[in-house]
Amino acid sequence: MTNPSTLTSNPPAPILSSRRDGPLELKPLRLGNIDVGFPVVQAALSGYSDWPMRIVARRLGAPYTIHEVVIDQFVLSLKDRDKTKHHLFITDEEHPVGGQLMGSEPDDFVAASEKLVNVGFDVIDINFGCPVKSAVNGCRGGYHLGQPDIALEIIRKVREIVPHEIPVTLKMRGGIDDSSQSKDQFFAILEGAYDAGIASVTVHARTVEQKYIGPSNWDFLCEVKRFAGDRTVLGSGDLFTAQACLDMIHETGVDGVTVARGAIGNPWIFQQAKDLASGKEITLPDLTEQKRVLQMQYDLHLEYFPQKAISTMRKFGIKFAPLHAQPVEVRNAFATIKTAEDWKNVLKQWYRS
Ligand SMILES: Cc1cc2nc3c(=O)[nH]c(=O)nc-3n(C[C@H](O)[C@H](O)[C@H](O)COP(=O)(O)O)c2cc1C
Repeated sequence: MTNPSTLTSNPPAPILSSRRDGPLELKPLRLGNIDVGFPVVQAALSGYSDWPMRIVARRLGAPYTIHEVVIDQFVLSLKDRDKTKHHLFITDEEHPVGGQLMGSEPDDFVAASEKLVNVGFDVIDINFGCPVKSAVNGCRGGYHLGQPDIALEIIRKVREIVPHEIPVTLKMRGGIDDSSQSKDQFFAILEGAYDAGIASVTVHARTVEQKYIGPSNWDFLCEVKRFAGDRTVLGSGDLFTAQACLDMIHETGVDGVTVARGAIGNPWIFQQAKDLASGKEITLPDLTEQKRVLQMQYDLHLEYFPQKAISTMRKFGIKFAPLHAQPVEVRNAFATIKTAEDWKNVLKQWYRS
């Protein structure tokens, strides 16, 4: 359940951030009554933001993380079995942590939200952003951006059923496509969502149709923040460096940012953003530090779901490889691991320090 230490009634002190043309005040992020603090958090990442990734991010400086998206009907069908234990797995260390839902029918959304609350998530996040074919064809994720009435019915019903002290938040893309009708629908949902009591909206500034083609549209984030006024907006899109995280906040006026692809294989980005904000030099992780964190993530798997350790760390190792001086060789080495012995050998061979 919500960690009482994250609940405060007084607004926290501002954090000073440096900017190329002078210091700027960076407001600490709040989601409803949860004091998140530094406004650079880890996004929900399907296939990635499992418990070990989230714990690593938290230990390395992310003040808030979100579980990968789960489909409402899947949540409702989950039984207490060892094989599925890694789904919806959270521990005390990671509060506050968000659970994110995707679905098509308002009533399933409601039932699944209750389950996420009972599991102990501190925030319930509704996904109206997923652009993948299976989601959109199943009338889930980004599909809802084209049907404001149903979208708002889901939001209102979820907000009603989730206990008042638990914030409900929303993730959106910037509309279905670039048409003016889509834009109107986006702002109708945004306004209705805030009216319904949503604590924050995260906008990935690409359209559903756009998927990942072309850059994200930060001008659109400026427009969203102007519209939202003092209501909380988080930005998403093309945040691959600590500097980009601060730039998005400064240039668009959003209240915080969610780091997605930029955090896969680079959990140091959160501390780097903090360091940059306080005028310190950014340090890149040396080999000893890279090895320490890779091993930490592997060990976290061993603690609760050892059967997933190798396959998952193969995927993550490949993402860490670009930080190595010999990225291609290290990538290839991680790509072939099949056993615990292979894992040990890759670290021994390539991360000797
Ligand atoms: C592999 C992958 C998985 C993602 N999974 C989710 C998810 O579960 N929920 C969600 O809201 N967004 C998800 N996203 C979208 C990201 O959170 C983010 O909005 C998007 O990638 C834009 O940010 P970026 O350009 O900095 O990566 C995912 C993106 C990627 C690349």
